[in-house]
Amino acid sequence: MVFSESFVLTGVSQKGVQALAAALAQQAKTRDVIALSGDLGAGKTVFAKAFIRALTRQDEDVPSPTFTLVQTYEARQNEKELILWHFDLYRLKTAQEIYETGFEEALADGISLIEWPERAEGLLPKNRLTIQLEIPADAIDKRNVTITANGSSWVQRMEKIKTCLSVQSF
Ligand SMILES: Nc1ncnc2c1ncn2[C@@H]1O[C@H](COP(=O)(O)OP(=O)(O)OP(=O)(O)O)[C@@H](O)[C@H]1O
Ligand SMILES: [Mg+2]
Repeated sequence: MVFSESFVLTGVSQKGVQALAAALAQQAKTRDVIALSGDLGAGKTVFAKAFIRALTRQDEDVPSPTFTLVQTYEARQNEKELILWHFDLYRLKTAQEIYETGFEEALADGISLIEWPERAEGLLPKNRLTIQLEIPADAIDKRNVTITANGSSWVQRMEKIKTCLSVQSF
């Protein structure tokens, strides 16, 4: 059994990033961690908001957790209620400060989207999905997106994710 697997989508538009986030939201389940990596302005918040909107009301206000470090949302998926946690760790002063955000509760029974996961590397679970967003040198309105599954739970879902993605164009 392989416990890590990745694939890359190149030249993805903003609408494509949002569609990808919505598609992945349908595959997510309680206790999942989705790390959003990439430089300033790479599109981590664009991804997170589309993911959140896919599991909440379409008119849900989705503020950025830039100063609060975290925002939570009551969400529904397949008739089940769950809590979505959107972390932005950019302003984390020490990795340990993450424990003041409700992080353990998020891991125990929520779905966690984490911007700037590198700020708390070592404290995040190894089993997670990482979305790496990069701005290509030749197109500022496009993104190269690397999706990496770590751990059997996400690796097992990769085939399904790839099938979902292959029938859509980004
Ligand atoms: N293909 C694309 N995908 C995502 N965002 C795009 C794309 N093309 C342009 N953009 C723009 O890039 C910006 C991405 O901003 P966003 O706040 O999502 O970045 P971020 O990675 O969260 O940055 P930060 O590290 O500051 O939190 C937005 O203004 C968005 O409109
Ligand atoms: Mg952001």
